[in-house]
Amino acid sequence: MSRSVSLALLLALLAAPALAQSKSRTYNIGQPATSGQIAGWDIDVRPDGQGAPPGQGSVKAGEKIYLEKCAACHGEFGESAGRWPQLAQGKGTLASHDPVKTVGSYYPYLGSVFDYIRRAMPFGDAQSLSNDELYAVTAYVLNLNDIVDDKFVLSRATWGQVTMPNQGGFYDDDRDKVEKAFWNAKPCMKDCRPPVKITGRAGVLDVTPDQKPKGGVE
Ligand code: HEC
Repeated sequence: MSRSVSLALLLALLAAPALAQSKSRTYNIGQPATSGQIAGWDIDVRPDGQGAPPGQGSVKAGEKIYLEKCAACHGEFGESAGRWPQLAQGKGTLASHDPVKTVGSYYPYLGSVFDYIRRAMPFGDAQSLSNDELYAVTAYVLNLNDIVDDKFVLSRATWGQVTMPNQGGFYDDDRDKVEKAFWNAKPCMKDCRPPVKITGRAGVLDVTPDQKPKGGVE
C-alpha cells in the first residue's frame, strides 16, 4: 500500500466515529435540562396573559414595593429621577419632535409591561420579586399611568380588564402597500444630477496647506 493511500485510510477511520455521532446527534456534553431549569427560562407572558404566573397584587400593595424598590430610579410618580427612564406621562408625544416613551404612552400590551418588569427589574436585582409583588408593582405602574384605579387588583382573572392606551398604535407592517408607489418608481441610474459647477477652491479660501504633498495629489 502506498503511503498516501494508507494516510487516506487512516483519515477515513478517524472520521467514522465522528460521522456516526453526528447522525445520532449526541455530542456527549451537557446534561438534560430539568423541568425546574426550563421553568426558570420559560417566563414570557403573551398579550392575552398566557404564561402569567399564579398570584395577584393590588395597586395599594404595589405602591409600597414601588417606593422601596423602584422610585429611587424611576421617580415617586414615574416621572424619572435624574436620567433613569420615565415610566408615566408622555401621552400624545410619540409623533412629536421629542417623543416620551413610557408604559402609558407607548407599551402595546399589559403582557409587555409585566414581562419586562418580571424579566429585568429592579435593575441590578432582576427576578428578585415574588409573583404577588410582581402583580402588585405592575398594577401600581398602571395606576401611575391612569390605566387602572386605586382599588384595582391585578391577577390572571383581571388581566383582560386592562387595555393599554397605545394598543391601537401598533399594527401590521403595511409598507408593501402604503409605500408601493414609492418602491416601484423607476430609480435613476444614469446622469441623475446636473453637471457640477465649481465656484471656489480650498486653496483660494486658504484652508489647504500651500505645499503640495509628496504624492502629488492636490
Ligand atoms: C437602579 C435603577 C433602577 C431601579 C431600582 C429600577 N429600575 Fe426599572 N429601569 C431602569 C433602567 C436603567 C431601565 C432601562 C433599561 C434598558 O433600557 O435596558 C429601566 C426600565 C424599566 C421599565 C421599562 C421602561 C420603558 O419605557 O421601556 C419598566 C417598566 C421598569 N423599569 C420598571 C421598574 C420597576 C417596576 C422597578 C421596581 C421593581 C424598577 N423598574 C426598578 C432602572 C431601574
